[in-house]
Amino acid sequence: MKSSIYDCVILPLNKVHNRAGNITVVEGGKNVPFDVKRIYYLYDIPGGEDRGAHGHKELRQLILAAGGSFNVMLDDGLNKKIVTLNRPDYGLLIVPGIWRELMEFSSGAICLVLASEIYIEDDYIRSYDEFINYKKK
Ligand code: TYD
Repeated sequence: MKSSIYDCVILPLNKVHNRAGNITVVEGGKNVPFDVKRIYYLYDIPGGEDRGAHGHKELRQLILAAGGSFNVMLDDGLNKKIVTLNRPDYGLLIVPGIWRELMEFSSGAICLVLASEIYIEDDYIRSYDEFINYKKK
């Protein structure tokens, strides 16, 4: 699995602004490069708690801060980078084969995740050692 953290990019989304506020639309296959099969969101995250700490074999995701902010640490087994998400009109594309940890959630943060597949527990790699072995294949 040769994917790299440099394949995980920030995608600017559209924003329609008027005096009553903003709307951002994400359309599968149009401004996100996969068909969206599942949406979930993380919220009410207690201060100091981290989420994630796993990799995926096939799943592609677009992660964004629908509210507040948080950091995403990406790791491909060779390199790491930390991306701050703090705007609802920018999403982080995460490709398969990337270890990710979500941390430093602000109070009231909402992490919205658009996913290319339904939930499949077998797609998860939950042990870092197993992830490193998987990346060597
Ligand atoms: P998990 O993906 O491990 O959470 P995070 O990466 O945010 O820390 O999921 C937490 C729990 O929720 C786990 O028991 C599986 C369950 N879950 C589902 O049932 N369906 C889903 O689509 C997701 C994302 C999680």
